[in-house]
Amino acid sequence: MCGIFAYLNYLTPKSRQEVLDLLVTGLKRLEYRGYDSTGVAIDSLDNKDIVMVKRTGKVKVLEDAIKEHFSGGEYSEPVLTHMGIAHTRWATHGVPCERNSHPQRSDEGNSFVVVHNGIITNYNDVKTFLSKKGYEFESETDTEVFAKLVHHLWKKHPNYSFRELVEQAIQQVEGAFAIAVKSKHFPGECVASRRSSPLLVGIKTKTRLATDHIPILYGKDVDSSKASELRPHGQTRELPVLPRSDSTSEFMPEQKEVEYFFASDASAVIEHTNRVIYLEDDDVAAVRNGILSIHRLKKSLDDPHAREITTLKMEIQQIMKGNYEYFMQKEIFEQPDSVVNTMRGRVRFDGQSIVLGGIKDYIPEIKRCRRLMLIGCGTSYHSAVATRQLLEELTELPVMVELASDFLDRNTPIFRDDVCFFISQSGETADTLMALRYCKQRGALIVGITNTVGSSICRESHCGVHINAGPEIGVASTKAYTSQFISLVMFALVMSEDRLSLQQRRLEILQGLSKLAEQIREVLKLDNKVRELAKDLYQHKSLLIMGRGYNFATCLEGALKVKELTYMHSEGIMAGELKHGPLALVDDSMPVLMIVLRDPVYVKCMNALQQVTSRKGCPIIICEEGDEETKTFSSRHLEIPRTVDCLQGILTVIPMQLLSYHIAVLRGCDVDCPRNLAKSVTVE
Ligand code: UD1
Ligand code: GLU
Ligand code: MG
Repeated sequence: MCGIFAYLNYLTPKSRQEVLDLLVTGLKRLEYRGYDSTGVAIDSLDNKDIVMVKRTGKVKVLEDAIKEHFSGGEYSEPVLTHMGIAHTRWATHGVPCERNSHPQRSDEGNSFVVVHNGIITNYNDVKTFLSKKGYEFESETDTEVFAKLVHHLWKKHPNYSFRELVEQAIQQVEGAFAIAVKSKHFPGECVASRRSSPLLVGIKTKTRLATDHIPILYGKDVDSSKASELRPHGQTRELPVLPRSDSTSEFMPEQKEVEYFFASDASAVIEHTNRVIYLEDDDVAAVRNGILSIHRLKKSLDDPHAREITTLKMEIQQIMKGNYEYFMQKEIFEQPDSVVNTMRGRVRFDGQSIVLGGIKDYIPEIKRCRRLMLIGCGTSYHSAVATRQLLEELTELPVMVELASDFLDRNTPIFRDDVCFFISQSGETADTLMALRYCKQRGALIVGITNTVGSSICRESHCGVHINAGPEIGVASTKAYTSQFISLVMFALVMSEDRLSLQQRRLEILQGLSKLAEQIREVLKLDNKVRELAKDLYQHKSLLIMGRGYNFATCLEGALKVKELTYMHSEGIMAGELKHGPLALVDDSMPVLMIVLRDPVYVKCMNALQQVTSRKGCPIIICEEGDEETKTFSSRHLEIPRTVDCLQGILTVIPMQLLSYHIAVLRGCDVDCPRNLAKSVTVE
């Protein structure tokens, strides 16, 4: 939920201004992760101090402040080796303001400065401990305790390396973090670590790296029971001396000139390098004398010897806006391609077969299960609602659909023969990840549906499907939803492959899938018409969206889009529930949108439509192309092409995405960064 970016150039001359440009561009790529305040830290001109600039607001505000602050000619002098850190924040502890922005510092002299993503849950205990040692806190953040803890350890162990100090500190903190630390006592060095929050290291060299692996250095004889010294409340005893990890010389082969990028995700480094290492929980990565090493305190039996350097396949264009005004708009219009990418290499339309490489070995086990659980939050949850009926039909298994937070609140019973799906675009959603761990502990089979290779959900699941929708930058999810939808449909098709009685149905769905891209293109042509409708709606206070059956999920997802983008009230209403309450809202002034398609619930939807019009409601209708009868009920309608019932939801959600987009633009809202929200919600 926030963005970390750090840049270290070793024997690669760069002026401070160039470094700052790099840091700011990195933050811009990460801005979707959080954008209430920002900050950077670089070396002072005499290299003896650290200079920080922090601002409330977006990266642009910081960029302007930096231009003002570092305008002098001295800042354009090249420096051979330098290390800078940067942060864009989504506040959890303390209001967004300069004082609470990161980097947070250890002392007035800026000995250690830290950027952090996540929440240190035991920060109060650490704070009490450090306060008794004389530390005075200047922010309300949990992050500040980390900077001060490192400082305390440094005073206690003056001969420890920078990496060892951070290694000691992370053993004392609980919760979730990705951190990058800079110190004026260790110039040109960077130490970073993570637990639960994502972090990767990008490596850029002039010549090809001699290795694809960075060996991991493990600690010896670790007694981790000592590590919990701070946990009892009010504990103020001196910290114990904790084990130090091995520091023999098995590092990455020395490079003469090298640049390192530490970032919360790949979109921030791809323009510099495609060679990255995804750090794992509790890895400590350190760069010293231009050499990167990775350390871990404990080694268990199946731990690897090295971290692999992966080559990113992402293209820079994929993360740029192109000709579009907003990322969200670009992502809506990408859907004819993204749905094809989700099916690519998996659906064979000629032979009518489907292979999901990521789960094929688990299919026999899945077929033996007692029930399927689909778990997610927000839009991902809606993709489960959208496909539940088809999954029930084609798997003939009970299918439960759950919001991750509620699922956890209920301590829902889970059994070894359950198969649990965890759906998350980023693969880092905190509630979903916790629900995953809960189910894994109880022995269920864990299946991930994620868009992000290397994400926590991907790694912690037994198997899964990458939806391959490409990076989604707009905070409001669009193409990820349609791709999650299709991934679950493909799964249902795989499960029913050998059911003779279902072959006709499967064929119909496969044909539907093959036409989908073309039909989405058709729906996107409604853009102008949708914009006109948005003009009727944008000054209203509320919008009700009604439907049932396969299209109920579109109502929920449509209402969520309207809420998050336009800050208008909106509700997705199950049309079957109208008479049980919501009908009371309907009159001649209440904006209503209804989805009425020629499917098994058509007659029931027509009933609902009549109930609405007889209360003087004047709904906008989403109906099938050429359905003259339904159109007579309203002068405002959007016609979408006919497809098989269970895929309609993919076509009906697109006008809703466009509608919320246009209403947001008309209301002057920031489409890509809605207020109070962030792209990947890595906190509960
Ligand atoms: C894989 C390759 C793809 C290649 C194709 C060729 C990757 C990421 N994908 O795609 O580039 O073209 O083979 O056959 O290398 N997984 C999880 N949890 C998740 C998602 C995925 O554990 O949430 C696992 C899967 O079980 C699998 C691996 O990640 O082991 C890759 O999954 P996926 O990309 O969906 O597999 P393929 O479609 O076979
Ligand atoms: N918990 C930290 C804070 O509130 C970090 C939040 C973030 O990840 O942006 O400052
Ligand atoms: Mg996995």
